[in-house]
Amino acid sequence: MAFSQEAYKAYFADAPDDVDVDGIDLKRVPRHIAVIMDGNGRWAQRRNLDRGYGHAAGVSALKEVITACVRLGVGALTVYAFSTENWNRPKEEVDLLMSLFASTLIDELPLMHREDVRLKYLGDMDELPDDTRATFERGLSETADHAGLTLAVAVNYGSRAEIARAARILARRCTSGEMDPGQIDEQAIERELYTFPLPDPDLLIRTSGEQRLSNFLLWQLSYTEMVFTDVLWPDFDRWDLMRAILTYQRRHRRFGGVSDDE
Ligand code: IPE
Ligand code: IPE
Ligand code: MG
Repeated sequence: MAFSQEAYKAYFADAPDDVDVDGIDLKRVPRHIAVIMDGNGRWAQRRNLDRGYGHAAGVSALKEVITACVRLGVGALTVYAFSTENWNRPKEEVDLLMSLFASTLIDELPLMHREDVRLKYLGDMDELPDDTRATFERGLSETADHAGLTLAVAVNYGSRAEIARAARILARRCTSGEMDPGQIDEQAIERELYTFPLPDPDLLIRTSGEQRLSNFLLWQLSYTEMVFTDVLWPDFDRWDLMRAILTYQRRHRRFGGVSDDE
């Protein structure tokens, strides 16, 4: 869906006092935003609820952020939903998350159709429960023709596993004679990462006050601007996204060079 000034204005009307919506430069909105959606458990605990309620509330936050990204004309949104280390959680929580992923995907297919969102999936799908994997495959095929926002969902994703996998693929090509080790350069590795062909994220947001990457996109975040917020993921809304983008737009990206705009 093409960017529409009217739809954008309507979605970002009535801003809180501290959010300078008019200060945003719509020509410099990040092309790709990555989010570590953290703090669902603490959100629930503060309300004396089971952690599962926090995960369910996190889905509403994600829907708002997807819509906000569409209205802003962001090209890609990558969200960290389940890490390779998250299998270490109690089985009940893992099972709940896996069924929440499947049910959310089915429930939100109309949103994907309406907003022209194309799904992408990052991680090793083979290790997911059969019904969760089948749902993901359905989501991928049903949204393959969409041309608006790409929504990349990282489930059973670990950056180290992703890089090791790329190394394995390239090594196999070399031993079969298809490729020479001298041809392995940054582009060759990038082509085998789950994120290909997305550009590297311009902005990474992590919620809940934690300031670490937790094995997320270690390669792709090399020059990404990072914004950390204390807001817990279920409370994160379009205004928090706008605050993060305004912070991003105040930064000077140098990519190792010198900038001439300071
Ligand atoms: C993030 O919230 C969601 C997942 C990791 C699936 P958490 O579940 O990590 O919430 P906290 O960090 O325990 O509050
Ligand atoms: C990172 O959050 C993974 C996701 C948000 C899916 P965690 O809550 O698992 O990370 P740590 O354990 O605090 O580093
Ligand atoms: Mg956490």
